Amino acid sequence: ARAATQGAVLASERRDLRVQEAQAKAAEEAEKVDLSSQWNDPLSTKRGFAEEFRNARNDQSRDKMPEWKKISTKNAEFGKRTNMSMKEQRESLPVFKFRSQLLEAVSQNTFLIVVGDTGSGKTTQFCQYLAEDGYANERMIGITQPRRVAAMSVAKRVAEEVGCMLGQEVGYTIRFEDKTSPNTNIKFMTDGILQREILVDPMLSRYSVIVLDEAHERTVATDVLFALLKKTVQKRPDLKVIVTSATMSAEKMSDYFNKCPIFSIPGRTHPVAVFYSREPEEDYVEAALLTVMQLHIQEPPGDCLVFLTGKEEIDTACEILDQRMKALGPEVPEMIILPIYSALPQEVASRIFEPTPPGSRKVILATNIAETSLTIDGITMVVDPGFSKQSSFDPKLGMDRLQVMPISRAEANQRSGRAGRTAPGRAYRLYTEAAFNSEMLETPIPEIQRKNVTNTILTLKAMGINDLINFDFMDPPPASAMLTALEELFHLSALDDEGLLTRLGRRMADFPMEPSLSKSLLKSVEMKCSDEVLTIVAMISGTREVFMRPKEQQQKADQKKAKFHDPSGDHITYLNVYNGWKKSNFNVQWCKENFLQARNLGHVKDVRQQIKQLMDRHKLQLTSCGNDTIRVRQAFCSGFFRNSARKDPSEGYKTLVEGTPVSLHPSSALFGKPAEHVIYGSIVESTKEYMHVVSLIEPKWLVEAAPAYFKVAPTDRLSKRKKAERIQPLHNKFAGEDDWRLSSQKRAGRG
Ligand code: CDP
Ligand code: MG
Repeated sequence: ARAATQGAVLASERRDLRVQEAQAKAAEEAEKVDLSSQWNDPLSTKRGFAEEFRNARNDQSRDKMPEWKKISTKNAEFGKRTNMSMKEQRESLPVFKFRSQLLEAVSQNTFLIVVGDTGSGKTTQFCQYLAEDGYANERMIGITQPRRVAAMSVAKRVAEEVGCMLGQEVGYTIRFEDKTSPNTNIKFMTDGILQREILVDPMLSRYSVIVLDEAHERTVATDVLFALLKKTVQKRPDLKVIVTSATMSAEKMSDYFNKCPIFSIPGRTHPVAVFYSREPEEDYVEAALLTVMQLHIQEPPGDCLVFLTGKEEIDTACEILDQRMKALGPEVPEMIILPIYSALPQEVASRIFEPTPPGSRKVILATNIAETSLTIDGITMVVDPGFSKQSSFDPKLGMDRLQVMPISRAEANQRSGRAGRTAPGRAYRLYTEAAFNSEMLETPIPEIQRKNVTNTILTLKAMGINDLINFDFMDPPPASAMLTALEELFHLSALDDEGLLTRLGRRMADFPMEPSLSKSLLKSVEMKCSDEVLTIVAMISGTREVFMRPKEQQQKADQKKAKFHDPSGDHITYLNVYNGWKKSNFNVQWCKENFLQARNLGHVKDVRQQIKQLMDRHKLQLTSCGNDTIRVRQAFCSGFFRNSARKDPSEGYKTLVEGTPVSLHPSSALFGKPAEHVIYGSIVESTKEYMHVVSLIEPKWLVEAAPAYFKVAPTDRLSKRKKAERIQPLHNKFAGEDDWRLSSQKRAGRG
């Protein structure tokens, strides 16, 4: 009774179909089909399937079937959930029994730490209890989430429970997307949004309660809010601050918040058996896929959650898994393969919450997002390769870099726990027990100690906080990172040479984007090309891919894209795309013909409008430079001068700042074209370090943009020390392209 699909449908569409058909059948089948017998069929011929399964795989992987060593069993209490009404569901959550005690604790304390297992109802219930208790009568209840997807999905869930339209009493705000209204009294938002709000209104006068949810994730914004909220409550003693955390960092948080009480909600989890690989795995994705196939064939019903590291990896893994399942033929029980990561559109993302049709198994391939911030019922198996993508500051590139790195023990345990929410479960760790004990950190390092803090420091400065050394960070950023950030802000002219905020800097802080982008935008007003730069900034900030490149039509898509290519590079190419779309009157068909994603362009238009409103508020003029787009690239130089690179005689490019090798991505408009000096928007890592959003520049623009950062190198060779002392007159001395280097002053400043 499997949904048979034919023809060349895309893998994702096929999954769509399967889910829909399976769901349609689920209701009737649930009644007449004996669940266990459906599963017993394949299980009774288990050997046969396993055999076939092995044959379907290629030779080298044949002997790599993971072997498991059973190690430990976590015990916990039992519980059961069935088909319940919303009210019953709410009342069945562990947090419900503690409703009045929780409210009591809130009323008696300014700060409160709430700890409880994932799924106990902290996020969805607590805010409702508070609202029911009157906290939302005059002001709002604000709940922060480290992740955008989580903010959207929990807001949706709570709106359902409350019985209102999303965006009415219950809403959410994420960057460039505000789904709230004057009626909203329970507001979910990313921690970044609250950080912006507290900049504008340090008293947070619209809120009666702030819940910092998922605080154990220790994002930079949450950490900054920790400190800022401590300041706010001194002036607003009526404000309640609740910090929720899934793990054991509670003691430390309590100490930090003036030794406030910790409210623990006892979990209601089932035992989870933990297995480790006998040998280290060479290829964790392959190992994960093999494990999933093996579990699917051998294990009784129950869904499976696989932790991978990012979008591309997950998409590829989904496809491979889908192909391998097809290769097994129709006798194997159906596997519903679902990806989940932050960039996934909401409609697709919410499919992971749909019930699994009888006779099939849901396999969810997820990023870290499923570690704590999303609760998915019915998971009985977790496959954990032990990695996640973590952002950290790379001094060689001068920016944050996402890298695949081992997780910590706390995270590994958290992941395993996801298997025991609704029934006893199993966790398969694709690393050895020795690696777990000796190679993994106890807990993750807070982001603020790993990442670039330029934006954070700009925000703090904009709030009048100048003494950063004595600022009450729970874990302060390393002094070197603070210095780098201060230095960068100085070169961006956001701070003066005494480290005080400039007017430009104050304005930059008001724009919800990285300082290099806001600087470019503000500079473009002066340079009379703000209309164009605004469009490009919106294209970059929209963060969603506008180009479409379907597998079967890559060449055609590339040809269409090439029509928008500008000889100067990607910035103006973005502009051409947007203007082309605008000329078509924002036509959807036009997008299709040009392999562009109409929805995402729609989002760009919306983002553009929002930034324009901000500019209006600051009385910043929109002026078009017409065809004189040189100025546009110059404006971007004023913000991105650090991201400059020069063609290397041997191969690729080298950054000017540190001489790090970087490459042009084949999708860049400049690919295959002669381009000596370039600036880039970011570095995207895959097989190489690729520059992203790259444009041709003239080096003297860099000198103009950041005079204290670059200068023309002297033609006579000076000693290092002398160079350090000598401050060169700048671009007026500019002679030839070959004669300039990084300013020695800058180098000296670094050491
Ligand atoms: O925050 P915590 O991890 O303690 O739990 P929660 O997110 O409030 O989830 C409580 C329950 O709500 C879960 O058991 C899910 O069944 C349900 N839920 C849901 O159905 N859909 C969501 N988007 C979020 C939660
Ligand atoms: Mg939660």
